[in-house]
Amino acid sequence: MKDIILTGDRPTGNLHLGHYVGSVKNRIKIQNTVDYDKFYIMIADTQALTDNHDNVSKVRNNIIQVAIDYISAGIDPSKVNIFIQSMVPELAEITTYFMNLVTVSRLQRNPTIKEELKQRNFEKSLPIGFLNYPVSQAADILAFGSTIVPVGEDQLPMIEQTREIINSFNYTYSPKEKIFNEPKAYLSEEKICQRLPGLDGKLKMSKSAGNAIYLCDDSKTVKEKIMSAYTDPNHIKVSDPGQIEGNVVFSYLDAFCQDEHFEKYLPEFSSLDDLKNHYRMGGVGDVKVKNFLYQIIEELLTPMRVRREECLRNIDKIYQMLFDNSKKVSKEARKTLEKMKTAMGLNYKQIFTASEDEKNYEINKNKKNIIKAKTF
Ligand code: TRP
Repeated sequence: MKDIILTGDRPTGNLHLGHYVGSVKNRIKIQNTVDYDKFYIMIADTQALTDNHDNVSKVRNNIIQVAIDYISAGIDPSKVNIFIQSMVPELAEITTYFMNLVTVSRLQRNPTIKEELKQRNFEKSLPIGFLNYPVSQAADILAFGSTIVPVGEDQLPMIEQTREIINSFNYTYSPKEKIFNEPKAYLSEEKICQRLPGLDGKLKMSKSAGNAIYLCDDSKTVKEKIMSAYTDPNHIKVSDPGQIEGNVVFSYLDAFCQDEHFEKYLPEFSSLDDLKNHYRMGGVGDVKVKNFLYQIIEELLTPMRVRREECLRNIDKIYQMLFDNSKKVSKEARKTLEKMKTAMGLNYKQIFTASEDEKNYEINKNKKNIIKAKTF
């Protein structure tokens, strides 16, 4: 069986370099190298509302931004189904049935939820929708039979929760046919890409922390941001020995730099290890390293800017594509939902409209079904 790939992002802001190395880059790699069956990228507006319920316009406006970010970054809409979560109501219905299979305390133990609760000051007053988002994420993943979920490391607990839901569903309802595939996370190989630090060096790169370089930033902004990045506060003079650990510029080089960049932009060093050694010993200034990083990031972002211009000329087409895809994938999710309802014994329509013969067959087959059939 060929793989089915699904992933998504909350449309709460533009995508940044953390998203790029953590997940978007992998999606492009999969799109261009894997012989998959289907590939879905969901713009998770419903999930975004779980901590933005009073700011719908922000979420709504960011849907097109995120879609443009994807296409600019290299996602090919002819190979990938990009769709809008709230336009697939089946996902909400699947979520409802899954909610019975998960306890509140299980969700409260989810390490990502725990951290996010703190960040959002939800400890005292916790919206049910927010606590429940791992369950709704399981619905996203399972509705389409996903086998591979390219995500950042913070999403691993959601995949774990998804597997538990499969087990619990199968245990409770014993479906006659297999409904769900076991999903696997697809993480970036390099640790640094799984959690790219922000420009301030404190937290991971994120919109809310205001420490991000966005895929849509222009050259001048990128330069200013890189020049302001946190390095080693004790590396004051060029001749001072410098520290690599915790130095954001080197973290970014770890994530983005390849050997060929040295030849092109910094030929006096042969490799990143070589540069690091010299920096440690003293004699390499921050501005030089930052300029090097700037050129590498510009090499990545320049072709994205060209594609972005193209997207901006075709906004209507992108909206149409999102609407069409959402309708199409909604039908696919419905198939999963129907299978679930059959397994659960909620397939009333089938039972109601069954011919007399079929009803008799059901009755003979299983006494319990007599009661069911009669009750209707
Ligand atoms: N939780 C993901 C994020 O915050 C978005 C998301 C929603 C998702 N549903 C998903 C990711 C399903 C992977 C699979 O970025």
